[in-house]
Amino acid sequence: MKNPAARFAVQSLGASRIREVANVGIGRADVLPFWFGEPDEVTPAFIRDAAKQALDAGDTFYTHNLGLPQLREAISHYLSALHGPIATERIAVTSSGVSALMLVSQLIVNPGDRVVAVTPLWPNLIEIPKILGAEMVQVPLQFGHTWELDMQRLLDALTPGTRAVYLNSPNNPTGWVITRAQQEVILAHCRRHGIWIMADDVYERLVYDTAGGQACAPSFLDLATPEDRIISANSFSKSWLMTGWRLGWLAAPAGMMADLGKLIEYNTSCAPGFVQRAGIVAVEHGAEIIAHSVTRYQTARDFLYERLNALPRILSPKPKGAMYLFFRVDGERDTLALCKQLVREAGLGLAPGSAFGPEGEGYVRWCFASSLERLDEGARRLARFLEDR
Ligand SMILES: Cc1ncc(COP(=O)(O)O)c(C=O)c1O
Repeated sequence: MKNPAARFAVQSLGASRIREVANVGIGRADVLPFWFGEPDEVTPAFIRDAAKQALDAGDTFYTHNLGLPQLREAISHYLSALHGPIATERIAVTSSGVSALMLVSQLIVNPGDRVVAVTPLWPNLIEIPKILGAEMVQVPLQFGHTWELDMQRLLDALTPGTRAVYLNSPNNPTGWVITRAQQEVILAHCRRHGIWIMADDVYERLVYDTAGGQACAPSFLDLATPEDRIISANSFSKSWLMTGWRLGWLAAPAGMMADLGKLIEYNTSCAPGFVQRAGIVAVEHGAEIIAHSVTRYQTARDFLYERLNALPRILSPKPKGAMYLFFRVDGERDTLALCKQLVREAGLGLAPGSAFGPEGEGYVRWCFASSLERLDEGARRLARFLEDR
C-alpha cells in the first residue's frame, strides 16, 4: 500500500520562506525580528475591554454565518464613508483576512481556472488559489526608480476566459499603490471579459505622502457598481492593531452572499462573538488609532529609508503604502541564504525577497511597524554585518 499523502495540489504548495527564516531564530532573545508583517504595539485597551465585557456577559456561543448584524452594519458605515454606499447585505465577517482570501477563492475559482496575480506578492495570495486547483499566472511589477505596473503586460495576461485577477494595493512587500487611472482601465477590461477582480485591501488605510491627505488608497470599491464582479478583502489586523484576533471581512455583490454564507458555515461557521464585539468598537471608534499608526509608520519609514540607503550595496525605494521597505542588496543572488545568515550571525530577522515570487530575488523585506530605537539597532546590525562580509 502507498504511504498516506495529501492531494497533489497541496503537496505542490510552496512552504513559506518567511517562516523558513523565522524558524532559524524564533524565540531567540538576541534576535530582533522584522520578518513578519505585524505592528509591534498591543491592541488598544478600549478594544480589549469590549472583548472582556462580552466574555463576562457570557458571549461564548455561535453567531450568524455572515457576522453579527451590528458588526456588518458598522463595517457598512465605515466603508461607505470611505468609498461611497456599500450596503450591509454586501458585507460578510470572516475569521481573519487570510480566511477571507480563502473564502473568495472557494467562491469563484474552479479547478484549472486561470488566475492572474500582480507580483511580488505576499505568498498566501499565490498559494491559496492553487489549493483550489487554479493555474496561477504572475505579472511582475517593473523596478525602475520605484515599482511600476506595466499595464499593457497585465491586460495581455487578462485574456478572455481568465477567471480572476488578484491585486493587492498597497502592496505587501513592495509598497506599490495602484492609481485610480490604472483601476479604471483594469475594471473596463475585466467588465468586457467577465473577469473577477479580487482586491486585497488590507493596507488601504496605510498610505503616505498623499497629496490631498487622503485617508485611504484608491480602491475598486470607489468605482464599482454593486453588481460588478469585484470582491474586496479586508482585515482588522493592520488598521486596528489586531493581528492575533483573527478578524476580517469581505465586501461582495449581494447576490453572492447566500453562497458565501454556506462557505463560511463549512469553514469556520462564524467568527467568535466576543471578537466581533471588539471589532464593532474598533470600526466605530478606531479613527484615532489609524491616524496614530499612519504618523508613526511614516516617521519609521523615512528613518529606515535614510539609514538603509546610506549603506553600501543597498538601494531602497520609498514605499507609498503598507509597512515594508523592500530593498535591493547588490550582488546577492540568494536572499534566503542571506536572511538565514543574518539571523544566525547578526541577530537580525528579515524576510527574503524570493518568498514573494522569483522577481523578488535580490531583495529583502523589512517591516518598519516598529519603534525608532529597534529600527536603529536593526540598521546598526545590518551595517556591521555588511562591513564584515
Ligand atoms: C496582503 C495581505 N493580505 C492579507 C493579510 C491577512 O491578514 P490577517 O489574516 O492577519 O487578517 C496580510 C497579512 O499579512 C497581508 O499582508
